[in-house]
This record gives sequence, C-alpha cells and structure tokens, in this order.
Amino acid sequence: MNSIRLEVAKATSFLEAGAVENFYPEAAAAIKALEEGTRPGNDFLGWVNLPSSITDAFLSDINETAKVLREKCDTIVVAGIGGSYLGARAVIEALQNSFQWLTNKGENPNILFAGNNIGEEYLSELCEYLQDKKFGVINISKSGTTTETALAFRLLRKQCEDQRGKDEARKVIVAITDAKKGAARITADKEGYKSYVIPDNVGGRFSVLTPVGLLPIACAGLDIVQLVKGARDMEEATTSKVSVEENIAARYAAVRNALYQNHGKKIEILANFQPKLHYIAEWWKQLYGESEGKNLKGIFPAAVDFTTDLHSMGQWIQEGERSIFETVISVEQSNRKLLFPHDEENLDGLNFLEGKRVDEVNKMAELGTQLAHVDGGVPNIRIILPALNEYYIGQLIYFFEKACGISGYLLGVNPFNQPGVEAYKKNMFALLNKPGYEEESKKIQERLSQE
Ligand code: PA5
Repeated sequence: MNSIRLEVAKATSFLEAGAVENFYPEAAAAIKALEEGTRPGNDFLGWVNLPSSITDAFLSDINETAKVLREKCDTIVVAGIGGSYLGARAVIEALQNSFQWLTNKGENPNILFAGNNIGEEYLSELCEYLQDKKFGVINISKSGTTTETALAFRLLRKQCEDQRGKDEARKVIVAITDAKKGAARITADKEGYKSYVIPDNVGGRFSVLTPVGLLPIACAGLDIVQLVKGARDMEEATTSKVSVEENIAARYAAVRNALYQNHGKKIEILANFQPKLHYIAEWWKQLYGESEGKNLKGIFPAAVDFTTDLHSMGQWIQEGERSIFETVISVEQSNRKLLFPHDEENLDGLNFLEGKRVDEVNKMAELGTQLAHVDGGVPNIRIILPALNEYYIGQLIYFFEKACGISGYLLGVNPFNQPGVEAYKKNMFALLNKPGYEEESKKIQERLSQE
C-alpha cells in the first residue's frame, strides 16, 4: 500500500547508539497488550480493531443520515468538546476548501462547532448568525452530561425548534451518545431523534472513527469510506504480526520515549507547513496530553503552524531552552498548482521565483527550518503524508492512536483514563451550586473566604 512514512534519523542522531532499539522489546510487548487487553485501561481498547470492524452497511447508514442533513440544512452545528469534537474538526479542516465559508455555493453545508467553550459572546454571536439559516444540530457527548455541550445544545435545540417547528427540528437533530445513560440519550429517545451509540470501550479521544467523527465528516461531503480504508490499512501495518522495526507506530513511540526518558526532552512540538493541518495538531495535543500526562509524567504536547509561527515561536525553538524535540507533519504533494508569475518591474525582487510552484518555496522553507532547528539542538522527526486526502488522513489518525497507546505503556501510565479532567468540573459545579454538590459548595466557599 502507499503509506505515510516516518523519518527519525535527525532525532536518533541526538541519542546514544541503541537507545531507540532498547525500547523495542517493550514496544512489542505493549502492542501485544493492546491486542490482548492485559494492561491497565483494557476496558477502553475498542479503538484497536475498530477500523477493520466497521462494516459497509454501517458506513452507508452514516452516509444516509448525512444525506438527509445535507439536503435539509445549509448549516450544521456540531455540539461537542474534547474527544467529542476535535477529531471531526481536524479532518474537516484538513480536507475541505479553506474558504468553504466564503465560497459556499450550496454544494456542501457549512459545518460549525459549538459546545466546546462557555464563551457568552461566541454563543450569542453563533445564535445570531443562525437566525436566518436552515440549520441542523449534531449533539455529541459520550457521557451525555458534559456542561459545555449540554449548555450549547439547549440553546441550539430551542432555536432550531423555534425556527423550524418541533416536528421539522426533530428531522435535523441527531444525537451521538451512550446507548442507555445520560441526558443526551434521554432527550434523543423522548424526542425521537436519529441517534448513534458511542461504544463503551472507545474513549473520547480515540473516537474519531466512530459516528462521533464519521457523521460530521460525511456531512461535510468528505469520503468516510476512504478515511476508514486508510485507518484499516494502518491497523494492519501496525499489528504484532509486523516486526517492531517495520512498525512505524512502534518506532515513533520508541523514539519519543528515548528522547524523553534518556535525553530530558520534555516537550514535543508538532509542526506543520500547511495551515489546513492546524486542527490535526489540536486533536493530537488532546490525544497525547490526556493519554500521557499523569502520575507526574508525560511529554508536553505543543504545536505550531509553520511558516506562520516561525515569525513568532521560531526564536524560542531555535535558541530557547533545549528541552524540546520537533515532529513535523510533511505533505509531499500539493493537490493544487499555483505558479509565481513574472513581473516586468520586479519591484519586490521576486522574479528569481518566477515559474516556481508556491509549494516548492514551502518545501525549501521546510527543509531550511529542519536544518536550522537540528543545528540549534532540536531533534527532528518527520511524518510524511504523500498527499492530503481522506485515505492518508485515515492512516495518520490510526498511526497516532496506535503510537499513543504504545507510548503510554512505554511510559508506564494507563493511557486510557483521564482522572485529572474531573478536578475543574468538581469546583465549577460546587461554585454553581449544582444539586448534589452541597458539601463541596460549602468547602469551596470557606476556602475562598480565607484566600
Ligand atoms: O477524551 C475524552 O474522554 C474527553 O475529552 C471527552 O471526550 C470530553 O470530555 C467530552 O466528554 P463527553 O463526550 O462525555 O461529553
């Protein structure tokens, strides 16, 4: 198969000989543990064989639902946060026209996102924007009780019903949630919304290949069959049947752990040279941050968009504290061709670029940056995508997920829980006097009065 590729030579050159290979036996054991469910977090391994278990009938059903929404809506608002949001946004922004919003001639609905913040101005402006839109809502929450999402959904549902009437609104609201529990499930069943189940054994940040990601992506007019095919091929390429030396997920996990555990590289900066990949990095940050940042351990996942951020963060990366390494997502072939034109006067002095593709200039910026950063003491990993399309993005998603599972086990943490996320929620509910939090409310008020 044509595949995404991994280059690590400019990272391993910073390490002592054999440092990466020393992690291989443990990486092989981690892959087995993911397959056999023998380590902590084994109740959340539904993602491991997910791509190969998705049926054509299931994808057709998702595409059918997307068709209904696409026919009835010019705008679809996806309400969700964290794992119930970032994957869909990452894929959609990577693959749709950057100016979909401005150039939309009705071919695809605009996909908007809500329920991922509690910004009053954002929500108010969104509601105002939707006033003259034929909009639908995809309400995504595994627990069905997440405050940010529930709050946005209540507003959106009311507005949708007010604008369309209750019966019509029911046809354009879809719920993606738990099979039985949570407010989102109760509402969906009572109102008769079309709904999908998020499998119990797939955690939020690993759920992009469930309806959580697939439905919004299909609504955007993207090819979910190819997306899943890419993921499926990567699943096959990263099983325990493949030697660790040839398994790119295992190699990536081993190299980043060697840099972190042996070399004090505590921060991984995921860099791209395509603005469309911004949200892929946001999704990746959650995947690795929530999976590895625990027990006072974990590489801090940061991200930059190049060349944009070379003019903001470039100085830090080149000459700041040497606690970083860089992982660049590099796209080999641009899907479009744009040539620099000739200019008679050449006032900008750019005629030396005449006839060149914009992508050629970008590639030289990428190479120049890699060499400069390596010279500056920043180990460099490259993940090469042959092109930006559904198939390779599907591969990339599964590659990062598999590497994350392996890497978490190499680090000695349970990569599939996120106990730390509860701390802010507990305080927020106590501060808002949520029923059931009376004791916490009392304690937090006492604490605040003493500070
Ligand atoms: O990865 C995770 O588990 C989290 O980021 C969740 O996806 C996020 O908190 C949203 O949760 P829910 O889907 O229950 O609303």
